[in-house]
Order: sequence, then structure tokens, then C-alpha cells
Amino acid sequence: MHRTLKVQMMGVGLTVFCLGCGMVPSPASLREAAQRSGMLVGTAARPEQLTEAAYAATLAREFNMLEPEDAMKWEVLRPDSQSFDFSQADRLVDFAGQHSMKVRGHTLVWHQQNPPWLTQGQFTPDQLAGLLETHIKTVVGHYRGKVFAWDVANEAFDEQPRLGQLRDTIWYNRPGIGLAGNGTAYLERCFRWAREADPQALLFYNEAEAEALGPKSDAIYAMVQDFRKRGVPIDGVGFEMHIGNLHSDISSFSANVGRFTALGVQVQITEMDVSLPVDAHGNASAEDLQRQADMYRQVAAACLSHRGCTAIQTWGFTDKYSWIGWQSKGTRGAGLLFDRNYVPKPAYQALRETLGAR
Ligand code: XIL
Repeated sequence: MHRTLKVQMMGVGLTVFCLGCGMVPSPASLREAAQRSGMLVGTAARPEQLTEAAYAATLAREFNMLEPEDAMKWEVLRPDSQSFDFSQADRLVDFAGQHSMKVRGHTLVWHQQNPPWLTQGQFTPDQLAGLLETHIKTVVGHYRGKVFAWDVANEAFDEQPRLGQLRDTIWYNRPGIGLAGNGTAYLERCFRWAREADPQALLFYNEAEAEALGPKSDAIYAMVQDFRKRGVPIDGVGFEMHIGNLHSDISSFSANVGRFTALGVQVQITEMDVSLPVDAHGNASAEDLQRQADMYRQVAAACLSHRGCTAIQTWGFTDKYSWIGWQSKGTRGAGLLFDRNYVPKPAYQALRETLGAR
């Protein structure tokens, strides 16, 4: 394709023909690539790292969406039953605002990272219902117009050996908010409270290890189908995508995304990392880094093949601050797109290429 360029040379206006000018240059960043495909590319972020220049620069340059990794969890937001401390989460939301990034909120109802005053408080179901309603309405209200999508509920379905059943939690049945034994009714209540607090925000259900077809994703599918049929406000499902197996079945994920999006909800990949075995210095093998890149490529391609799959988010972006190392006590790591010195890895190149190709 020929394009006419007007160039100024020493004050003289010249019109020239430029061969090859129509070729679109490759995207310079993940967010530029994502923008071309109408996608969101996000990452979990930590407020305490924003003062590190390389951290902040990489975050702003590469991503158009940000999610507080821990800063919006109960244990951070709720010093006690009466008060809210938004200071850490606000720093991240302000940063996102300054860099035109969308914010995903995470998370309002979860069985983990709750403060001891709550878990050990011996509250009655009525009291817990009051606490949860106030929490959801206050937090969602505080970020109204700033958080575009909320993980309203996180990981409510159990793992082995009770795979796909509702997990026993303080919110469900230990003692619960008064709806113990009523299946997903307690989750429904939470989605309705969130919608009341911000009618514009997208409301997601987020889950681990439900990427593929199977008992857990079947249970979530049944819930979403039921919610949609009855007009319970749910707009999306988040699949975390913490991958530890380099041979994961991505075709099953794609089929799963297909059936959820057919219900009219969005799907977002919310917490992707691909952990690798690492040596004592935290380094993975070159072969594994290539296999990891291929995994990112396959997952991104699967998401891009469904119109309703709208975001790919990684759980952090530099291996310097990844929860994988803490969780595996250093035996695994290197799961993210940038190494500990913020150098892009093969996985970064793979994701950028794939994102730009829809
Ligand atoms: C993790 C954070 O990355 C850690 O910093 C924290 O110590 C524990 O939680 N599923 C989720 C995330 O939904 O909130 C978890 O984040 C990882 C698993």
C-alpha cells in the first residue's frame, strides 16, 4: 500500500510516496497491542512497590488495567468492625487514574485474608449479614466510577475431594449470613448488594482451577445460568489461570470460555502466571522459558478467539514480586512476563505478538 507523506525539509514542503509505509509497525508495548485488538491487558499490583521507578514505569507502560493484589482484601481494608482504611488501595487507584488504566476490584467475599477480629469474632448470622452488606456497599460505593469491574465473590467452590461443591466458609455456613444450606443464595445476595452500590460496575465471579471443563466449572456454569435466567446481576466470570503444568489442556479452556460467553457473560483471565521449577538463584531453564512462552501464547490465542473474552491479566508482572516464590518456598517461580530486573522474557514477546494479532 502506498501512502502519501508530507515532509518538511529545511522549510520546504515536499510530498513523497512511501513504499511500505502502510505496514503497521509492531506494537511497542502490551497495552498498545491489546488496544489494537480491543482487549484489556492487566496485572496485579502492590502499592508498596510504586515508589520503585522501574516497577512504576513498567506497570504504566505495559498495562491498561490494574488490580490490587492484596490492597482491597478485608484484612487490609478493615482494621476493625467499624472502620475502613482505603489508603493503600487508593494509591493504586490514583496511579491507575494518572496512567489511564482501568481498575478491577478484588475481592468482596472470600474465605481467605479476612482479619482475625472477623474470623474469631463469634458473630451471629444476622451480624455477619450486616457486616457483609455494609462492607460491600461501602467499598463498592467508595470506588464507584473508579473500579469498572469487581470480583464480587472469589473461590466459593471447593477443591478436591469436594470438587465443585460450595466451600464451607464464614459467609456460607460457618455460620454464614443466614442462608446456610441454600446453595448459591448467599452469593446472589452479595451480587445484588454490589449492584445497588454501583449500577455501572461489571460484577464478576472469580475462581481458581475452573479453567477447563469439569465438575468445578460445571458448578459455576450452573450458577451463572441460573443467575442470568432469574435476573441476578452477574456480568462476568474470571478464570485465574495459575498454571503449574506446562502441558495444560488449552482446548478445554477454550471450550469452557465458549459455553460461558454463550450465556451472555464476559470472561476474563484474571491471575495468570506459569510457574516453573527454579534453581537456588530463582532461575528456570531456557527450555522451560520457551515452553512458558508457548503457554502464554496459547492461552491468549484461546481468549482472543472468543469475542466475549475481554481481558488477560497476569498476577504481577516481574518475577521479583511474585507470590509463586513465597507460596512454593522458593522451589518454583519465574512465572511472569519480566524477570527480576524487569527484562522482558520470551513469554512477554509471545503475549505481545498474540495480543496484537486479532
Ligand atoms: C495472593 C497474593 O498474591 C499474595 O500476596 C497473598 O499473600 C495471598 O493471596 N487467588 C486469589 C488471589 O484470588 O487473591 C491470591 O493472591 C492468589 C490466589
